[in-house]
Amino acid sequence: MLFQGDGYFLNVNVSKRGEILNNCECGAFKFRGACNAVFSLDNDEAAKGVVTHSSGNHAAALSLAAKLRGIPAYIVIPNGAPKCKVENVMRYGGQVIWSEATMQSRESVASKVLQETGAVLVHPYNDGRIISGQGTISLEFLEQAPQIDTLIVPISGGGLISGVALAAKSINPAIRVLAAEPRGADDAARSKAAGRIITLPETNTVADGLRAFLGDFTWPIVRDLVEDIITVEDNEIIEAMKLCYEILKVAVEPSGAIGLAAVLSDSFKNNPALKNCSNIGIILSGGNVDLGRLWDSYRK
Ligand SMILES: Cc1ncc(COP(=O)(O)O)c(C=O)c1O
Repeated sequence: MLFQGDGYFLNVNVSKRGEILNNCECGAFKFRGACNAVFSLDNDEAAKGVVTHSSGNHAAALSLAAKLRGIPAYIVIPNGAPKCKVENVMRYGGQVIWSEATMQSRESVASKVLQETGAVLVHPYNDGRIISGQGTISLEFLEQAPQIDTLIVPISGGGLISGVALAAKSINPAIRVLAAEPRGADDAARSKAAGRIITLPETNTVADGLRAFLGDFTWPIVRDLVEDIITVEDNEIIEAMKLCYEILKVAVEPSGAIGLAAVLSDSFKNNPALKNCSNIGIILSGGNVDLGRLWDSYRK
């Protein structure tokens, strides 16, 4: 399946679409991209397995996709990653290789694994196969709610929003795509303002899935197709997460609840440019909450 929008292409492995759409087991949208990437490999490429560096949902998703294809997944995980996410990787048979928390260490450990195994690198977001898989969200969302005029999407490395924007705009070119980002990791908002990729020396947010920076593949899509980036504080994210539990009865992790936090924020409500958003679709992107940490916070 091919979507075309302003010179960007999305390519989804149609034969596996049912599998992509039906398998929500690993608790985050990341399975869509991971599954599309793994099932796009030819048999020779696939035989040596896949490798990635990720602290979270992409790691678990790639492990599960590789398990379904019957190939190895080598997952480089930085020290300090949330326990529940590491456990998910192990549950799906991913082989964990530890690195230091810095991006430099993650990348150098991953490239060593690449050399040793000959596996295929599947980047968490800066990869066309990943972006295409994430785009299936728009297909389903707009199939079920064609009246949506605005989509609000969490942003980190930008793979999710790139796929969502490309697919949504190819279905409805007038649809507005907005990003939601934590104030403590607001590199995408700064990048939009500066007109080039900005990275930060450090990030500080409860949304552990939203600490990555845009890549050279996702940046032009974010620059051209994402209308605005709404930044929210951590307390707004936690409040939105609580609302999801209390009212929707849905387990949503902080990174997943940020779109709701953005819509409820004053910066959204008071922005005159966003006054005419009337049918808003919010992507709740993941539910892998570290319950151990949550219960500990109750005990304090
Ligand atoms: C739950 C959740 N939502 C959103 C994102 C952001 O995705 P992307 O890096 O493609 O922007 C992530 C990334 O890890 C995530 O885990």
